[in-house]
Formats: sequence, C-alpha cells, structure tokens
Amino acid sequence: MAKTTRTVPITQIILDEEIYPRSGVYPKRVSMFAENMRDGFEIDPIEVQIHPDYIEKYRILDGAHRWHAYKEIGATEIPVHIITLDGLDPLLYAAQKAIGPLQLSEEEARTTARRAYENNPRLTSFEIGQAIGRSRQTVDAYIADLRASFQMDLDLKIFRMNRLGISQERIAMRFDALQRTISNHLAKMPELANLLNTDLSRGFTVVQVAEKHGWTEPMVWSLSLEGKDDLERFKELNWGLRTWDLWNWNDCDKRFGDDWPGRIPAQMIAHILYYFSHQGGLVIDPMAGGGVVADTCLAFNRKCWSFDMEDRPDTRPEIEPYFWDFDDLKWPIKGKTKPNLIIFDPPYFKKQSNNYDPDAISGLSKEQYLEFLESFFALAHQNAKKSTRIAFVNADWRDFQNTPADNEIRVNSILINDYLRILNQSGWQETHIFQAPLSSERFKANVVSAMQKKRIIGVTSRYIIISKKK
Ligand SMILES: C[S@@+](CC[C@H](N)C(=O)[O-])C[C@H]1O[C@@H](n2cnc3c(N)ncnc32)[C@H](O)[C@@H]1O
Repeated sequence: MAKTTRTVPITQIILDEEIYPRSGVYPKRVSMFAENMRDGFEIDPIEVQIHPDYIEKYRILDGAHRWHAYKEIGATEIPVHIITLDGLDPLLYAAQKAIGPLQLSEEEARTTARRAYENNPRLTSFEIGQAIGRSRQTVDAYIADLRASFQMDLDLKIFRMNRLGISQERIAMRFDALQRTISNHLAKMPELANLLNTDLSRGFTVVQVAEKHGWTEPMVWSLSLEGKDDLERFKELNWGLRTWDLWNWNDCDKRFGDDWPGRIPAQMIAHILYYFSHQGGLVIDPMAGGGVVADTCLAFNRKCWSFDMEDRPDTRPEIEPYFWDFDDLKWPIKGKTKPNLIIFDPPYFKKQSNNYDPDAISGLSKEQYLEFLESFFALAHQNAKKSTRIAFVNADWRDFQNTPADNEIRVNSILINDYLRILNQSGWQETHIFQAPLSSERFKANVVSAMQKKRIIGVTSRYIIISKKK
C-alpha cells in the first residue's frame, strides 16, 4: 500500500456510496470538525483513492465527516493522502478505518459484509470480519445465503465446462482455483443431474427444467438427449437435416448461443457436427463470440474448447479469453490434445467491425487480414491430426457500397477463391463447400430499391469450406 500527500480541489473529491460503510453521516461529528477547523486546529488529511470510473476524481476511503466539514466552512482545496490499495478491497479498507472512532451498527456491518462478499466472493469470513469488527461466525451468518447461491452458480459453471470436456486443469486455471476444489464441485454433479432427470422423466419440458434449476437450456438438452444418436437429436430439437450442399435458415435458433454480432445459426453448427465429427470428439472454436458452437456441442455430445478475445467469465466461463496476436500467433493448447474438428468463424473482414474490439482482426487491412488467416491456417495445420477437419465460415467481401456491379474493382474484394488459395498454401485441401447464405430479408425495402436503381449487388453469400490436411 502506498501513500502520497497533496492538496486537491474539494470538487474533485467524491463520497462514493459503493465504498462507504455507514448508512449516513453524523451531523454532530461534522459540526465538531467544522468548529475545530475554524479555530485553526490541525486536522489529519482525509484518505482518498483515485476514482476507478471518473477522470480526475478521487473517492473517500476515510474522512467523510471531515470532508463535509470542509465544505461547511467553504474550503476550496483540502489536504489528502492518496492511497494506492494494491488489491486490498476499498470497501473493507474504508470499513476498517471507520470503526476506529466508532463501531459499525449491526445493520451497517451486515450490509458492508454482504456488499464486500458480492464484490469479491473470494474474501473469507475472517478477512471481512477483521475489517468490520465482527467475528468470523457472525460474518458467516450475514452472508450464508449469498455464499450458497455463489457456490451453486459455480457448480453449474464447472459442470458445464466439464460436460464440454474441458480438462480439470484448464477449469482450475479459469477460476484461479485448486484442482482439488474443482473435483469437489464435480463430485456433486451426479446428484444434481439426478434431480433434473427426475423432472424430465415426469414430463417437464427442457425450458421448464432449465428455469426451475437455473441451468442453461443447452445444458438441460445435454442431459435430456443423453444416449441418443445424432439423428434422434436433430428430431428432438425440431431441426430438419439438410442432405444437400445448400444450408439456409431464416433465423438463428435463439435457444443456442447469445445475441452476438455475427452470430451464426446453431442449425449450421449441428450440420457441420453431424457430417464431420462423432460423439465424444473434440471441437475447437478459436473465435467463439456468443458461444453457439459450445452450446450446440452440448446438445450433440461433442467436447468443445472455445476461445475469444472478449472475456465474459460470469456468463461464458467456457470461452477462454485468448487473443490471437497477428504479430505473434500461438496455439493456446499445449501437450498432446489435438482437435477432431476446428470450427473457425472469424469476423468477415470489415463486416461488423464497429461491433468488435478495435484490436479484433476486423481492424486489419485487407492484406494483413489475409496474412493473418494464412498464418492461422498454418498454425492450425501444425496442431491438427491427419484426420482433423477445419470448417471455415466466411463470406464474399465485395466493394459494393455505392458501386454499380460493373464498376466494382476486384483487388478491393475478397472472394471465396482467395480463401481457397490461402487454405491450400497453408497445407489444407478443401473437400466440401456449403452455401449457407444470410437471409436477404435483413435488407430494408427502400435500400433494396436504391440498390436496384444504381445496379448494386449486395452480399448475402456465406460459405462453409471444409478442409482436410493434404
Ligand atoms: C463472427 S464472430 C463469432 C461469432 C460466433 N460464431 C457466434 O455465432 O456467436 C468473431 C469473433 O472473433 C473475435 N475476434 C476477432 N479478432 C480476434 C482476435 N484477434 N483474437 C481473439 N478473438 C478475436 C471477436 O471478438 C468475435 O467474437
């Protein structure tokens, strides 16, 4: 913990309720400080930290009454200690300071303990107790319900990752926990699954069971479809199986994957899984976005390891945060594990670039984008088995905005043959090309009419290129 002393304008100091352990200020205490200030007594500087959310603002860690008193006497600048907490919880630090002159009331202690635990469930009751001046047992009682629901939530996350075949070692790393803790959670899995299976066998629907037990729908599907073959799974999910090379759907099935820019239909994933993988096989999704591949793998009993630069530990712990660095591409899986199938759905060059992180590959120039893909394919090739398939999803990129079809310039576009060339250069051989067009219904009538007048041809193409090692 570091401390620097300065004088700062009082307008830059905020009383942030998030880290204030008391339910209010005591007017008498404020008046006493104000009187001492007017009489010229030396007052200890208040303690603040740089506000994490506002520029050039500080928030009070200790000294709310003094700060009010300074305002009362009309001070414009006040002395402060600026504290760097080095990972210490600011609410608990503030609580520990507050109990110096006066213990927290029962309600204040309870609320502070609960807020601290909600902010950081890794805190022990002992740590919280020390800060708020209560025993470990008292804190246990304050937070018992929160702890139970946190543990349940963690159970479900760990079960999901386990069901996707993610190793205990990777799960432990994801939660920064010991492998022993993970196996303790997993030991509860059969009992919980039994509860759900009982409800399913009583005729409750997947949606009802998911809602009742707080599981995601794909997780309940993974239980309810256990033991079934792939065709039965298609039937149960109410998805027709396409037997030809044109795969089109009007919409994504909302049960699988999150609402995400560039989301692809779970039905498409199911088709790739059906034709090019087997139950129990390992699928890798290098740019997983809204998690539709993992969700569909749950329903089709495939293992799935997913990666994306966007980290959403609360909702999608199964998607490991991973940045494919254009300047230093590395495969995120060490050891002997090799995938049976890689489903690679990157940003389609600039399409959706406004919706992705500025460092995403949609921020690259055309040349860099193609270079990235080539390096990626080469790296995937090195880390694949002889039988591994790669399913590469992409679309034509044409310079069609405001350009009549006849005037489009080929060098500005990226077409399917560019992708095929790159795949071939990096050791892959295409075996199938599926057309899975985007629905043209997304074009608005007035836009279509303007395009027609200007002889512009839009892009609804989307392809899935399946390749094998040469
Ligand atoms: C087309 S989206 C994937 C959509 C996903 N298949 C779905 O249906 O929800 C592409 C994803 O690539 C990720 N991405 C782009 N560049 C990346 C990079 N360099 N490293 C890791 N992820 C990246 C983006 O964050 C985005 O989620």
